[in-house]
Amino acid sequence: MTTAHRLERLVVLGAGGHARELVDAVHAVNAVRPTWDLLGVLDDGDRPTEPGPEVGAPYLGPTSMVGMLDARYVVGIGDGAVRERMDEMARRASRTPATVVHPTASVGRRAVLHPGCYVAAHATLTTDCVLGRHTHVNVGASVSHDDVLGAYCTLAPGARLGGRAVLEDGVTLGLNCAVLPGVRLGAWSVAGAGATVTRDVQPGSVVVGTPAAVLRRAAERVGTHRNVFGRLEVDE
Ligand SMILES: CC(C)(COP(=O)(O)OP(=O)(O)OC[C@H]1O[C@@H](n2cnc3c(N)ncnc32)[C@H](O)[C@@H]1OP(=O)(O)O)[C@@H](O)C(=O)NCCC(=O)NCCS
Repeated sequence: MTTAHRLERLVVLGAGGHARELVDAVHAVNAVRPTWDLLGVLDDGDRPTEPGPEVGAPYLGPTSMVGMLDARYVVGIGDGAVRERMDEMARRASRTPATVVHPTASVGRRAVLHPGCYVAAHATLTTDCVLGRHTHVNVGASVSHDDVLGAYCTLAPGARLGGRAVLEDGVTLGLNCAVLPGVRLGAWSVAGAGATVTRDVQPGSVVVGTPAAVLRRAAERVGTHRNVFGRLEVDE
């Protein structure tokens, strides 16, 4: 006797490049094992006129619709601060996040992924590591033994963590950034593309280079935040 496998309904918040990659990962998961009934994407941009197939899933409406859909959600937005805002909105609407792991990613038996995480193609999580809520580990990035990542962290493609590193909430690591073993990055700090982070980083600071040096301190960022592309945005 076979047991019918029920697909989980899913929506993706966002419809930009990162969301397209996430949608692609959902299709890749389904190709290996039918798991998700992907209803479509929610986005606040000027999407209604754009054809759905461009994203790989139908456009359903603005993100505020998340509470009206009986579906789990993932946030396909690269910026951790925006992801946090979307998550808060969805939580207030009593929605439950999903976790998406691309089938080519390698996830150790004892890795712990909190709800909302996305692990992209060819990313690696070894053992005894923890990813906080809605943390995204992008293509080819790696997380090693005993690493602890808080909520809303973002590892850009190719970023690598040595063992026992700590990333507090909202940390962003740029493309090909390396963090040496045991180093701690404070909340909402950013390590730029190609940085080698050899020492602890203060909360809210931006560091660049090899070895990484402070480009900007939190005090210089009051009322603003840097998104993952380094653009300065004014906080609401
Ligand atoms: C570090 C970062 C956040 C800084 O952004 P920013 O504050 O807008 O910085 P600016 O572009 O104004 O540059 C300021 C200075 O830092 C230098 N700089 C910027 N990023 C750098 C980096 N990654 N490594 C070394 N130097 C860098 C610039 O050359 C400039 O130097 P100058 O003043 O001597 O000309 C950004 O450059 C970065 O690396 N973001 C990560 C991007 C990424 O990987 N995205 C993932 C996409 S999938």
